[in-house]
Amino acid sequence: MLTMQDIKGHYNFTEGDAELLKALRPLAEANKERLTSIFYDFLLGIPETAALLRDDQLLRRQKEIHQEWFMGLFSGIYDNSYHHTLQRIGRSHVRTGLNAHFVNAAMNVVRRFLVELLQENIQAAEERRAYRNAVELIVDINLDIISASYQEEELQKVFLSHKIESKLIHLAERFTYGLNLILVIALAGVSLGVVGLFIWDICHVFVGDAEKGILGALGTLLIIWMMIELMDNEIKTLKGGKFNILVFIGVIIVALIREILISTLRHDDLKTQIFLAGTLLILGIVYYLVAKSQSESPH
Ligand code: HEM
Repeated sequence: MLTMQDIKGHYNFTEGDAELLKALRPLAEANKERLTSIFYDFLLGIPETAALLRDDQLLRRQKEIHQEWFMGLFSGIYDNSYHHTLQRIGRSHVRTGLNAHFVNAAMNVVRRFLVELLQENIQAAEERRAYRNAVELIVDINLDIISASYQEEELQKVFLSHKIESKLIHLAERFTYGLNLILVIALAGVSLGVVGLFIWDICHVFVGDAEKGILGALGTLLIIWMMIELMDNEIKTLKGGKFNILVFIGVIIVALIREILISTLRHDDLKTQIFLAGTLLILGIVYYLVAKSQSESPH
């Protein structure tokens, strides 16, 4: 953490500069209204800054505040308490939602005003140069401290929510990963069951009704095939791939085809058969539409 002493040292700001600034106090006092007027013309001329100064009552108070800060440039005392005041200014502006860019631009307005003021009032070039140097230094130091605490405040804001956000996202990711893992294990279990069913159907071919056995085995094979697709899809999702809804529609279609096969064997009434065929047709159309939309938007 830098102290005011450190900062002054880095800018090569000396006691002589502090004395020069103090000597400028009467000139600043005589021109503070003019500065305020130029400063506020600037602020009210930009929609983004004017929006923060809409209230007339507050405006008067804010003008006083900004004027006090301006006079503070010429107090001659630039200690740690001055440092704290500048840090508070940065934080206050962040809280108003003001973009740091406008503080920089406003500081430029102050700098130009002061340079011109010296130009108008101090004739001796050497003397003017010394004053100008002191003025430029204090303006730079002000901007440095205000911007630094401005950025710190903004970073804190971002990092606080960023931390919470990333933790939540991480938790949610782990949770869905866990769920997907459970799904894959369950699918594996169900697949084993379907394999058992297939064996049972095959047994039917040899013992008992051959037609029923063959059609049943065919339906079960279709299901095994879809189970493979489903698991493949889940594993891809686990590895970070895209979830493919088409596979799920495919599973329902296959299950329905199997049902139709069994239904014909059972010699179900026409109504049931029409209902199954109708459902299959609708699912076919849904499958086609989803597949089409997926091929149109590959991302
Ligand atoms: C040279 C740049 C600027 C300096 C040195 C400066 C200085 C200050 C100071 C000393 C305060 C009082 C802070 C406090 O006591 O907590 C303040 C507050 C404020 N400033 Fe500035 N200001 C600057 C630029 C701007 C700009 C560009 C705007 C744009 C509208 C602005 C709007 C305000 C407002 C709205 C407040 C009141 C904040 C509050 O209610 O807490 N200032 N400013």
